[in-house]
Amino acid sequence: MKIIKAENYNDMSEKAAQFIFERLIRGDVKVLGLATGGTPVGLYKRLIKHINDKNLSLSALHTVNLDEYVGLSDEDPNSYHQYMEDELFRPINIPRDQTHLPHGDTGDSEAECKRYERLIQDLGGIDLQLLGIGQNGHIGFNEPGSSFSGRTAVVDLAPSTIEANARYFTDKNKVPRKAITMGIGTIMESRSILLLASGKDKAEAVKKMIEGEITEQTPATVLQNHSDLTVIADKEALSQL
Ligand code: GLP
Repeated sequence: MKIIKAENYNDMSEKAAQFIFERLIRGDVKVLGLATGGTPVGLYKRLIKHINDKNLSLSALHTVNLDEYVGLSDEDPNSYHQYMEDELFRPINIPRDQTHLPHGDTGDSEAECKRYERLIQDLGGIDLQLLGIGQNGHIGFNEPGSSFSGRTAVVDLAPSTIEANARYFTDKNKVPRKAITMGIGTIMESRSILLLASGKDKAEAVKKMIEGEITEQTPATVLQNHSDLTVIADKEALSQL
């Protein structure tokens, strides 16, 4: 595990943007795994600038996102589809048939999970997966208690996750209770992983992830077993180490 300490959120975002951009330029990353949430917003802003300033062609790049809410259509303003459109895809103009997220409103989420898992395998697996971390140590939407060998599945969100994500919804009661998420087994097969964390709210989860006992009760602790993990975190997120 490589830990890169950043001064603050902006510094973390710039370091992460450079980390990803360098690998895109070198052609090391053909399949890029993406994450949502508040943490990667600053990274995406800077990555857009790097890509557009250098006119980097993305014609061969595929992206796969970690998760999507069950019950929201791709067009729903709170869906992760729309988040990705707004925060990254539209500004870099990547071919949309090469950007992949699970669909939340197919009516048959089990079949959708199988399709998504097969898609990742058909693309040849993930070269670099970006992750955030939940306050309870979740990765993707794999909540405490998730199996370390899990594949893409429909999951129930923990009450604390529903509460944490309610800030993005005008009506708290509209926060979905379920999501489709890549499994921990799927995530762990990524050839490289980059995890970002910022702020003191994440300090406890980050401490457990880095030096805690490896346990399914804290999903991110599984990352200690990954052979190519980089953590870019700011001082506050690293403050309990
Ligand atoms: C969300 C997402 C995760 C994200 C995490 C932290 O529920 N499914 O992929 O890493 O929670 O979010 P934030 O970055 O907003 O703190």
